[in-house]
Amino acid sequence: MIWRLYSSDRSWVFSVWNQWCVFYAAAACLLFTPVRADDTCPSSCACAREWGTVNCSSADEETDVPTEIPTWTSTLILKGRNISTLSTRAFTPNGTELEIITLLLPNNGIQAIEPYAFRGLTRLHVLDLSHNQLESISPRAFHGLPELRSLYLNSSFLPPATAQLQNALSAQTLRNLHRLELAGNDLKSIPLEKLDIYRLHDLVLVNNSLEKIERENISSLYRQKRIRVYLSLNPFRCNCDLEAFYYWLKNSSQCPDAARILCSEPESKRGIPVEKLRGEDVDCMNENLELKSFHNFSAICSEPFFSMICDLHWENTSM
Ligand SMILES: *[C@@H]1O[C@H](CO)[C@@H](O)[C@H](O)[C@H]1NC(C)=O
Ligand SMILES: *[C@@H]1O[C@H](CO)[C@@H](O)[C@H](O)[C@H]1NC(C)=O
Ligand SMILES: *[C@@H]1O[C@H](CO)[C@@H](O)[C@H](O)[C@H]1NC(C)=O
Ligand SMILES: *[C@@H]1O[C@H](CO)[C@@H](O)[C@H](O)[C@H]1NC(C)=O
Ligand SMILES: *[C@@H]1O[C@H](CO)[C@@H](O)[C@H](O)[C@H]1NC(C)=O
Ligand SMILES: *[C@@H]1O[C@H](CO)[C@@H](O)[C@H](O)[C@H]1NC(C)=O
Ligand SMILES: *[C@@H]1O[C@H](CO)[C@@H](O)[C@H](O)[C@H]1NC(C)=O
Ligand SMILES: *[C@@H]1O[C@H](CO)[C@@H](O)[C@H](O)[C@H]1NC(C)=O
Repeated sequence: MIWRLYSSDRSWVFSVWNQWCVFYAAAACLLFTPVRADDTCPSSCACAREWGTVNCSSADEETDVPTEIPTWTSTLILKGRNISTLSTRAFTPNGTELEIITLLLPNNGIQAIEPYAFRGLTRLHVLDLSHNQLESISPRAFHGLPELRSLYLNSSFLPPATAQLQNALSAQTLRNLHRLELAGNDLKSIPLEKLDIYRLHDLVLVNNSLEKIERENISSLYRQKRIRVYLSLNPFRCNCDLEAFYYWLKNSSQCPDAARILCSEPESKRGIPVEKLRGEDVDCMNENLELKSFHNFSAICSEPFFSMICDLHWENTSM
């Protein structure tokens, strides 16, 4: 019996000793592991690891995207820096994918976005590039962003890039986009070739230079029942080109700021809400009749059919 006790005792002692060994080994391991890049905060940034936030909004003249962005980052804010170009894989230069969900890049003086600039950010939901000075944007700038839900591009384009915008936005990878904001870009047309490649809920086009919305664009808006389009602060020309748009404003509830969409031309209608016009104000039959009123010879004579008569008239009078 004593022997048995001793025996089990010994095995107990051994097992306790064994556990201490494992414990100290683990502790030693922890102590001597070098601090991983993961745990450091990039210089000139403020990090809040518990929120997953890295905020590099420092006022000093940093000219690039920080290297070594921690892998736990879910929100990255770079603001007021001087980043002139977002190059390919700007955020994941070494190929390590990052799980960033929100990327805010306003006011960084960004002038160019190269192909695949955001590659490696496959979980990105929100991208804000507002208030930059884009002069060029690659058609593949937004490739590799399958989860992107919200894209903010307000006041970020200079004229050369405006022409490239449509190509950049046609990326098939933007198929989950719900919200697209394009305020303050001097746009003269909707820079989307098709609406049905997106799942857009909100398209913000306020404060641009839209004078009219094409009839084809209106048809595609009717087809995308879910979409809401914001259009105030555009200089609409209230003539008969606006007919389809006018009926869309009255008919559909797709434009939440309809009451604030005003005519800027002609002079006689300036400041009047488009939806308050009368049907005959935008009726082309009506407008053509007015234009070609028989008091206006220059209008009539410019029509091929009448030009003969006008020529005759001038021959007669000059004789
Ligand atoms: C980021 O830092 C700036 C100051 O450097 C501060 O004003 C701003 O509120 C911060 N943003 C967030 C989301 O913490
Ligand atoms: C690779 O980049 C990631 C993200 O910037 C960074 O966290 C990681 O430390 C880098 N790895 C190496 C080996 O440089
Ligand atoms: C921004 O950086 C570029 C060089 O990358 C430099 O030429 C320019 O002067 C800088 N602008 C400001 C406002 O610091
Ligand atoms: C512009 O973008 C910001 C996000 O940075 C958003 O909060 C704002 O509502 C947008 N729209 C306008 C018209 O400024
Ligand atoms: C309209 O956009 C321009 C150019 O981006 C900007 O300077 C202006 O402040 C904006 N106006 C309003 C009322 O938002
Ligand atoms: C809008 O109309 C223009 C010109 O008529 C056309 O090229 C473009 O594809 C249309 N866009 C949408 C979204 O319907
Ligand atoms: C709806 O639009 C059509 C033209 O597309 C027009 O004929 C009709 O009168 C409109 N209905 C209303 C209630 O405005
Ligand atoms: C006469 O027709 C011309 C050419 O179409 C047009 O520019 C002009 O505004 C018209 N004048 C009047 C008084 O309708």
